[in-house]
Amino acid sequence: MCGIVGFTGRQQAAPILLDGLEKLEYRGYDSAGIAVAQAGGAEPSIEIVKAKGRLKVLREMTDDGRSVSGTCGIGHTRWATHGEPSVVNSHPHYAKNKRVAVVHNGIIENYQEIREKLTKEGFSFVSATDTETVAHLLDKYYTGNPIEAISKVMFRVRGSYALGILFADRPGEIYAVRKDSPLIVGRSEQGNFIASDVPAILKYTRDVCFIPNLEIVKLTAVEIHFYNVDQEEVEETFSEINWDTEAAEKGGFAHFMLKEIYEQPKAVRDTISPRISDGHVDLEELGMSREELAKVSRLQMVACGSAYHVCMTARYMVEQTARVPVDVDLASEFRYRNPVMEKDTLVIVVSQSGETADSLAALREAKKLGYRVLGIVNVVGSSIAREADSVFYTWAGPEISVATTKAYSTQLAAVYLLAIGLGKAKGVIGEAQETQMVEELLRLPEKIERILEEKERIQWFANKFSHSKDIFFIGRGLDYASSLEGSLKLKEISYIHSEAYAAGELKHGTISLIEDGILVVGVATQKGLFEKLISNMVEVKSRGAYVLGVTSYGNYSMEDVANYTIYVPKTMECFAASLVVVPLQLLAYYVALGKGLDVDKPRNLAKSVTVE
Ligand code: F6R
Repeated sequence: MCGIVGFTGRQQAAPILLDGLEKLEYRGYDSAGIAVAQAGGAEPSIEIVKAKGRLKVLREMTDDGRSVSGTCGIGHTRWATHGEPSVVNSHPHYAKNKRVAVVHNGIIENYQEIREKLTKEGFSFVSATDTETVAHLLDKYYTGNPIEAISKVMFRVRGSYALGILFADRPGEIYAVRKDSPLIVGRSEQGNFIASDVPAILKYTRDVCFIPNLEIVKLTAVEIHFYNVDQEEVEETFSEINWDTEAAEKGGFAHFMLKEIYEQPKAVRDTISPRISDGHVDLEELGMSREELAKVSRLQMVACGSAYHVCMTARYMVEQTARVPVDVDLASEFRYRNPVMEKDTLVIVVSQSGETADSLAALREAKKLGYRVLGIVNVVGSSIAREADSVFYTWAGPEISVATTKAYSTQLAAVYLLAIGLGKAKGVIGEAQETQMVEELLRLPEKIERILEEKERIQWFANKFSHSKDIFFIGRGLDYASSLEGSLKLKEISYIHSEAYAAGELKHGTISLIEDGILVVGVATQKGLFEKLISNMVEVKSRGAYVLGVTSYGNYSMEDVANYTIYVPKTMECFAASLVVVPLQLLAYYVALGKGLDVDKPRNLAKSVTVE
């Protein structure tokens, strides 16, 4: 989604802003702009430069930022919501007389109403954006005290926002405020920063504070002050981000996606190992006693996209392992369906970014209804991590590619650990079974590595199908959940239409879509369902489909049906999703690569979906 960066300090701001925006490119954008305070002239002013398209255009226009003087500025990459992608709709936006400049992430829900009122009062709008209303409102309320003006705006607007603001008569000062949209401040010897996401400023500082909701921040080159909405100064603490800059660079890989696929063994290891002590799963960080865990009667899992597929996997895995019923909802549905849940339900929200608007809203809804919420989150200090009652971090490190891979794998690992802990607390699994499961969990990273060693076979196959129009994925049980993820991965980066079906459901309509040469990927790792899936593969093959089988070593009868087979190492059936997803990710990657597409930044998509 949109990205924000701001800098005030001793160096020229524009090159730093462009550099920061580049680090946020992965979030998705269609235009970009910077605003820099000009203190030198007869009257202080703000210079804005904006461009449609890639940041490269903005770089060319400003000689990599060198032609824009000034040491204090804000920048933005926009992902269009209100108004088409264009220069005029891109941020920053000026207010009348260019007294104020604003960058904004989020959505101002009542902007139409405010716009009409301001128009009647004589304010004229140049863009179709909701953000411009904020610029004009700030101008209207500003009488020399920025904190007062911002707080008045906060009372006037509804929706979500992270704002970076410059006032022309206060060069050297940046103001920032947020509600339900992430924003951080960072401090360093060279100066101070704001950013919507850590990678933007990681090169300059790791000393950051996640701005609490509804707080205003004033930054100068040497000071940072926080205020609440009542304009009272408040103290906030900074923490050290331990991600290193290299983790946010490609490190020799052609794309972040491939690099992150390769980082999966480490990410999974980093997520599992700290939770194993003396061969047992240790869930102490949940802050729930064994008795409290044993009392959990139901899990309600909520998430979006791939994280939702993790929940689908969890439904099969946790129900089998811990015999606890699991309900799974898309966060966008859960938040509005007024759910009926039994008393001892534990709500689990799964999110890589910890900022997904629907997932955050679902968390708040669950808390409002009085339920305990556990967040499975990757970004430390993110909104979901802060607002959940307990957090179980997935230690995937920064994930840059829009299509998730390593975060997904670590979410699966987190689910396994919870399932074992829950099963143990409930007395469903005993010591011996726990030991066996833990040993196998610890072997997963090495098995993922083995799959990666065979990537050329998948690449070869992918090249044959990069011009497909439709591709289907089928599976049963856990393999159905993996098929959903395989299909999403493929369609989001290759733009090939794809669907995943519970294989038994094919005959109820979808099979009519099967025609000559269409690729059907059959995922089959579950012993009890293997023969059933093979029958479904025969059904599609006899209607002309080309069948790719994905299964575990040993299931060689797959080759009697499949035109091509990809094997993954054997593991316990309940962990199979962690292995089969790897060839499916590689398949998607190489198909997209074969089509010459921008794998890391697929069209219309954003890494962190912070608006509804
Ligand atoms: C797909 C993908 C998305 C995310 C979804 C939720 O590759 O990355 O479907 O899984 O937008 O995002 P988080 O996990 O940040 O809440």
